[in-house]
Amino acid sequence: MQEISVIGLGYVGLPLAVQAAEKGYKVNGIDYNKELVDTINDRRSPYVNDVRFERALSRVSLSNFNATSSYENIANSDTVIICVPTPTENNVPDLSIVSKASEQVAEHLREGQLIVLESTVNPGATRSDVLPTLENISGLKAGNDFSLAHCPERIDPGNDRFHVGNLNRVVGGMTPACTDKATSFYKSIIDAKILPLGSLEEAEFVKSWENSHRNVMIALANTAAILCDSMDMNIDNVLQGLNSKVEQFGLSLASPGIGVGGHCIPEDIHYVIRSARESGIDTRFLDSAADLNDKMPRYAVHQLQELVAERGNKLEDLNVALLGLAYKPNIGDARRSPAIEVAHQLARYSNSLSMHDPFAAKTKETIIHGARRYDTIEETLSAADVVFIGTAHDEYITELTPDLLKRHGIKYLYDGRNCIGEQTVTSAGVIYQGVGR
Ligand SMILES: NC(=O)c1ccc[n+]([C@@H]2O[C@H](COP(=O)([O-])OP(=O)(O)OC[C@H]3O[C@@H](n4cnc5c(N)ncnc54)[C@H](O)[C@@H]3O)[C@@H](O)[C@H]2O)c1
Repeated sequence: MQEISVIGLGYVGLPLAVQAAEKGYKVNGIDYNKELVDTINDRRSPYVNDVRFERALSRVSLSNFNATSSYENIANSDTVIICVPTPTENNVPDLSIVSKASEQVAEHLREGQLIVLESTVNPGATRSDVLPTLENISGLKAGNDFSLAHCPERIDPGNDRFHVGNLNRVVGGMTPACTDKATSFYKSIIDAKILPLGSLEEAEFVKSWENSHRNVMIALANTAAILCDSMDMNIDNVLQGLNSKVEQFGLSLASPGIGVGGHCIPEDIHYVIRSARESGIDTRFLDSAADLNDKMPRYAVHQLQELVAERGNKLEDLNVALLGLAYKPNIGDARRSPAIEVAHQLARYSNSLSMHDPFAAKTKETIIHGARRYDTIEETLSAADVVFIGTAHDEYITELTPDLLKRHGIKYLYDGRNCIGEQTVTSAGVIYQGVGR
């Protein structure tokens, strides 16, 4: 039985480790978070309501997949996969966690191993940051003594159709032989296309570009929504018009909203910007897209202030209920969620703020000074004058009926995700506004 080590058992590393174990590998999962290690070894899923993953985790025996905080077993592994975070600090990419993990791998590196970086990085980072650390500490040479490759993860939490086991992947190696070795490894664990590319950098660029593309498309949609707001057009009608072209020519359209969130889309664009700046390339286009999306939560709260002011109210006299804190529907991840920035703004500018999210755990991100969190929609709305939709969780779309809004005497609903039918809201006598709607 071949052995592998997966470093970092978060949203990316843990599903990968379980997938490899299900495909017959002996998997050594490494994470310095001891509480997480215990949770995994007790076969408790850290993801709320992910039944598919819960089942997969419970199927895998401890002898096939064991989690630990020790790095020693790396020496016994044929393949080592690094899945640690690559955050940004004030929009500056921070590769220090990848560097630290590379040092830990290097201390146990031995000849013949395949080392793969899955974390999202800027083009050039595996060669400039990981490679020298591995070679200098181990005294071994990449491409000769060991193989080095980059294979970016594409996992989309909350997506039932595409998961770690069936997502197409791209692979780029230090040398063609490294690419071949990594491609064969991924073919043995994933039932989808594994596409070899020409270099480490090309594989790195695919990932950071695909998320930058999304960021830019959403910024474009948000610019259109802001224009619709200011010229009294409805973005839904404009999108319907645009779709008549999509039907014939195809176009990649995004929807407007309160901005982008999570670990990838708001951050990865800054990894591309970093490489572009280092190459002396003008980055204003990318900077503007990222900046516009970052400003959308404040824009939306400002729109709400104007909406209530036009009717002789002041937001500071009204009680607001914020529904949804996660960055996307039906998952609990609230990292860099625009709804969190909305919460901070509303806690500051309204009379009181009550909050609800069925999935997001109580973490440092979701605890908002001056706001109170409730477990049910009913409790959250009980004293509210205004409802603000922060996340398009299915539960909100089905439960926010005219009857519920009427019963709680809601006066305004601001739909930060354009997910509730305007008619549903106005039929309850509630004033509705969305982003560009
Ligand atoms: N979350 C996503 O949807 C997603 C999708 C595709 C790619 N990515 C990328 O994958 C990478 C990992 O993201 P994530 O969301 O899984 O992060 P995460 O924060 O969910 O998990 C990372 C884990 O790594 C552990 N860790 C950090 N440093 C370590 C070290 N030196 N040794 C052992 N464990 C360590 C942490 O304790 C944590 O459990 C990032 O580069 C991210 O951009 C994330």
